[in-house]
Amino acid sequence: MRKGILSIGAAAAALTLGLTACGGESGDTSAESSSAPSAAAGDAKPGKIGVILPDSKSSARWETADRKYLQEAFDAAGVQSDIQNAQGDKTAFQTIADQMITNGATVLMIVNLDSGTGKAVLDKAKSQGVATIDYDRLTLGGSASYYVSFDNTAVGKLQGEGLVKCLTDKKADKPIIAELNGSPTDNNATLFKQGYDGVLQPKYDSGDYKKGPDQSVPDWDNTQAGTIFEQMLTQEPKIAGVLAANDGLGNAAISVLKKQKLNGKVPVTGQDATVQGLQNILAGDQCMTVYKAIKKEADAAAQLAVSLAKGEQPQASGTVKDTEGNRDVPSVLLEPQAIFFDNVKDVVADGFVSKDELCTGDFADKCTEAGVS
Ligand code: BGC
Repeated sequence: MRKGILSIGAAAAALTLGLTACGGESGDTSAESSSAPSAAAGDAKPGKIGVILPDSKSSARWETADRKYLQEAFDAAGVQSDIQNAQGDKTAFQTIADQMITNGATVLMIVNLDSGTGKAVLDKAKSQGVATIDYDRLTLGGSASYYVSFDNTAVGKLQGEGLVKCLTDKKADKPIIAELNGSPTDNNATLFKQGYDGVLQPKYDSGDYKKGPDQSVPDWDNTQAGTIFEQMLTQEPKIAGVLAANDGLGNAAISVLKKQKLNGKVPVTGQDATVQGLQNILAGDQCMTVYKAIKKEADAAAQLAVSLAKGEQPQASGTVKDTEGNRDVPSVLLEPQAIFFDNVKDVVADGFVSKDELCTGDFADKCTEAGVS
């Protein structure tokens, strides 16, 4: 899937300096190489940027991190923006996009709710001359001019390796693994699964681990995740490790495990380094999470959007293959980081969560123990 990746520093430099194609590692960005500003660049007032976030329940990140960092970046660039949240409603998503365009958006950045509805939004925007960016989730078969995200297969790999580490630490013997996957309509969930199955499948094959229940959670719905995991544990009470695709799904599994007093005994993974996920790690109920420095993702996307709003044709650092649309999408992909008890402090040091919100009540002592300052 991934063809080229550069650090954000390099990507940012390429964008800022308007360098011509460097090709990243993939060496095939030449088709998108033109960074020459269009005739209008610099002359006219920049257009407006519209951003549509997917929901506020599947992960805390969209409202607490993405919105904040994107807004800050647009404001710092002095470009007008409108950030809205579709709250999981696919019809509302299209309506919001239409309104944004009517109200003067010349750039539209979306986090799709699924590829089909995302494609409709992108295609319609494009037909009206609006530049488009896929933010975090690639719209398969879509028409976005750019894609900004993390290396999502690497995210899954960290989750798989993290679970293996925690099971090894617990000296687990032939553990039965449950997989609680993300939404079947989110291309990222497919990539995360590719990543962790790449680690787990060889262990199933060798007989070191036993494959247990493996199910996707529609729309990453945390409540449904609880119901699904409850059924998994009823069917297979000896589940000894849970690969949960994000912190919300992980927390749903932990809540069910708590009822059986199995929390802390059965390692659970996560993603997003949410306050809840980090607190679950501090409490010993969650084995790990994956920290994605969303400020960098938001900054990279905002930089592209601002440049497009000014009528320029920015260059991305690499490309990602859209297998459905059979095209190479100019992309910026960032590297994720695994977080365990010992390096929870890194997330605080990076300013992603504050000590105040993390180290509340009973977590204060745990924070001290984990060296959070
Ligand atoms: C994002 C994750 C998020 C999930 C649920 C994925 O596409 O990459 O960070 O946890 O959606 O919102």
